Amino acid sequence: MADTSGQAPAETETRSHAGCSLDMDDRQFSDWTRLLESRTGLFIAPERRSFLVSGIRTRMRKTGYEDYREYYDHLSIGYFQIREWSLLVDQLTVHETCFFRHESSMKLVEEVVIPSVFERQRSFNAWSVGCATGEETYSLAMVIDDFCAARESDRYFGVTGTDISLPSLRHAREGLYLVRRLQGIRPAFQGKYCQSETDTRFRVNPNLRKRVCFTQLNSRDVERAPFANLDLVFCQNLLIYYDRERRAQLVNQLAGCLRPGGVLVLGPGEILDWQHPNMEKVRYPDTLAYRRTD
Ligand SMILES: C[S@@+](CC[C@H](N)C(=O)[O-])C[C@H]1O[C@@H](n2cnc3c(N)ncnc32)[C@H](O)[C@@H]1O
Repeated sequence: MADTSGQAPAETETRSHAGCSLDMDDRQFSDWTRLLESRTGLFIAPERRSFLVSGIRTRMRKTGYEDYREYYDHLSIGYFQIREWSLLVDQLTVHETCFFRHESSMKLVEEVVIPSVFERQRSFNAWSVGCATGEETYSLAMVIDDFCAARESDRYFGVTGTDISLPSLRHAREGLYLVRRLQGIRPAFQGKYCQSETDTRFRVNPNLRKRVCFTQLNSRDVERAPFANLDLVFCQNLLIYYDRERRAQLVNQLAGCLRPGGVLVLGPGEILDWQHPNMEKVRYPDTLAYRRTD
């Protein structure tokens, strides 16, 4: 994983590599940030320049490039270098996550969203946006399945996880995690939804995996994605990558994917002063959520 500390990686940043300067000048920095922003929405602030440089250099080392400009040209000409572009984006994004990461938000889903949706219909469709390696998506599936299992059976649910990172999605589809990842999962759910695979790994059980699907989606393309009439959109720790304007734009688009009564759950503090004519705030401690009212 790239250095996310934002600290300059000391003198190596300007040291010569195979005879080429590794300084990134202002013009190159602005070209790179513009390319990233236009293709992915990722915003790299000037103070995170060393983070960008370090990520690009890691990929350049792996592909044998010695010059930022050459590597930039290689990636920026059309979309032909899809694989390398995806590996670079992967290097520049943080995939940290865990099961039931934000407990209060999961409680809100469990105690408020799921019962109210199933009160008026038999199906429940949820979307985990920026799902990384899938822990958030499976956590949602666990709470919905648990609700259904405790009641009469003719209920259907599905949870879709999307992310820009192909390696993360591959991991998510496998549903295979280190045993220490069990930590966030309550014991009853561990017994019900997790099966031991080896001494060090467990896998999410096949019945739950059947309810979940993972697909690549760049959040810049949400408007063109086939998501509509959803009951829950869960989006945490993704907006932090965007500037204020792009955050509001994305949140508006996510709100547009909900059915009336559907709920959008964000991370607390991830957007400030956001308002939408058809969304009202859901009051629940330590959460940031909005319900579609029209
Ligand atoms: C820190 S993880 C958050 C995972 C999970 N939502 C959570 O809260 O635990 C952020 C994820 O957002 C993804 N991401 C970043 N930019 C993206 C974009 N433009 N489109 C889709 N996903 C993106 C990253 O690949 C990463 O997996």
